[in-house]
Amino acid sequence: MAVPAAAPLPCPLLLAVCWAVAAGMAAGAKILPSPSNLNYSFIHICTLNWTWSPPENISSSCNLEYSSDIVINGVPEDRREWSKSRFRVTDALLNEEMRLRVRSECKNDNTSEPSPWVETSLLPQGILGTAAVDLGCVWHNLEYMACTWRRGENASSDTNYTLFYWFDGLENPKKCSNSSVDQGIFECIFNLTFPKVTSTYPTISILVTDDSEEVRPVCASKNPTTLVKPATPRQLTLTKTNDRIDVKWSESETFPKSCLLYEVKYCNGDLDIGQIIASEMNSVSIAGIDANSKYTFKVRAKPKRECYNSNLHSDWSEEKSIGEKKDSTIYFVLIITIPLIVAVSTVILLVYLKRLKILILPPIPDPREILKRMFGEQNEDSQSSAKDDPINTFDRLIIEEEIHSLILTETSESTNPEKENR
Ligand SMILES: *[C@@H]1O[C@H](CO)[C@@H](O)[C@H](O)[C@H]1NC(C)=O
Ligand SMILES: *[C@@H]1O[C@H](CO)[C@@H](O)[C@H](O)[C@H]1NC(C)=O
Ligand SMILES: *[C@@H]1O[C@H](CO)[C@@H](O)[C@H](O)[C@H]1NC(C)=O
Ligand SMILES: *[C@@H]1O[C@H](CO)[C@@H](O)[C@H](O)[C@H]1NC(C)=O
Ligand SMILES: *[C@@H]1O[C@H](CO)[C@@H](O)[C@H](O)[C@H]1NC(C)=O
Ligand SMILES: *[C@@H]1O[C@H](CO)[C@@H](O)[C@H](O)[C@H]1NC(C)=O
Ligand SMILES: *[C@@H]1O[C@H](CO)[C@@H](O)[C@H](O)[C@H]1NC(C)=O
Ligand SMILES: *[C@@H]1O[C@H](CO)[C@@H](O)[C@H](O)[C@H]1NC(C)=O
Repeated sequence: MAVPAAAPLPCPLLLAVCWAVAAGMAAGAKILPSPSNLNYSFIHICTLNWTWSPPENISSSCNLEYSSDIVINGVPEDRREWSKSRFRVTDALLNEEMRLRVRSECKNDNTSEPSPWVETSLLPQGILGTAAVDLGCVWHNLEYMACTWRRGENASSDTNYTLFYWFDGLENPKKCSNSSVDQGIFECIFNLTFPKVTSTYPTISILVTDDSEEVRPVCASKNPTTLVKPATPRQLTLTKTNDRIDVKWSESETFPKSCLLYEVKYCNGDLDIGQIIASEMNSVSIAGIDANSKYTFKVRAKPKRECYNSNLHSDWSEEKSIGEKKDSTIYFVLIITIPLIVAVSTVILLVYLKRLKILILPPIPDPREILKRMFGEQNEDSQSSAKDDPINTFDRLIIEEEIHSLILTETSESTNPEKENR
């Protein structure tokens, strides 16, 4: 499609000027007049209705259509549309400069050139950098939407952002009231449910703004099916029969039948690497298990592609275990301690038995020695007699030791006064 020479020029809103320029530069080719009265209005939050009036003096032979395009921060979005109606509905951004441009064209007519563009712009309100950033939402279990965002870099620290939402089916936009802030992350939760039979969901428009004029509002539109996150499976139960384990968990109450896929992860014994089995039902049976092993299971749910275009898994369920586990640490402790206890008690027993033997069978007194003691010849023969008697040797050793220590203490005490005297 040929573009008139005047088109690339920035065309001011004054249509008369546009026409004059275009007519002057493209002599010969018949240039269509532009549409007029281009303006916009909001339908609910975050949705714009751009409207315009038809150009004058269009010949009846012209199959008139309007071509329109969106320009954001000066960059054409290449979301060109052709239509016969005199309005176009688009999402608003509010935190960027947004322009709509429109022109008239005669379809299948090579005798006329399209009109110059006319455009009008929607400028952002508030101060640059005060709009909420990183706005993201998750639709939990088809029950409620949780949206989070952070404060804009230039927004004051006491900025009270408010979230509004609207979707086709709500009469008016709603304010989200269940909000909280935790470590700089704002969160607001609102109920979002549809009848279970629904298979298509409306786009959710979300506006985050503040009462003050300074804070720049921001809009986002969310396709809820891409944000579906199922609830964590609950009531995980395990039953073991011979060589198989049956795993069961609660069925979802909010998801339509066969719209969830489950992942069962199980580990055998201490191994960290587990196996994952997929299941379309809320149960799975594992055969050929090792009867002497402990098995640990956990489950998570995932939306099915046929139902929802979402990649979000549920969280893993709590872990449950089944089967005997020969605890290796207890084994180890037993292997070490049993022989140790046996050894120690044997030693104690032996010592005790020896004492017992002495008590029961006291050493037979040597009549010769008694006689010697009686006659005071103790000192001479004590050494020889002690050789035969272990108890006596022991006693003597103790006595000798006592003497040694006495000597030691005496010498140390006697040396000290010498030092002091010097
Ligand atoms: C555009 O519409 C607004 C109301 O939505 C109105 O106040 C304004 O005057 C209109 N502008 C033009 C050029 O018609
Ligand atoms: C947009 O505005 C035009 C003119 O007021 C109206 O005819 C049209 O129905 C509006 N479109 C929507 C989707 O509201
Ligand atoms: C439209 O055509 C009529 C008659 O042909 C003429 O009087 C009028 O000035 C034209 N209007 C414009 C805007 O060109
Ligand atoms: C316009 O198109 C017709 C048929 O498609 C052709 O015969 C004619 O030469 C074309 N005229 C111009 C000016 O291109
Ligand atoms: C914050 O404001 C300053 C000064 O007006 C500006 O240069 C900066 O780009 C703003 N920050 C953001 C994230 O827009
Ligand atoms: C936000 O709300 C708190 C308490 O309601 C108030 O003290 C504070 O001034 C508000 N901040 C702004 C920027 O209005
Ligand atoms: C607000 O959200 C919390 C979870 O963050 C939820 O427990 C509570 O029921 C919600 N309150 C209302 C009124 O929805
Ligand atoms: C959201 O739904 C729950 C139960 O489904 C209800 O208890 C709660 O009050 C609802 N919250 C709002 C704000 O409607």
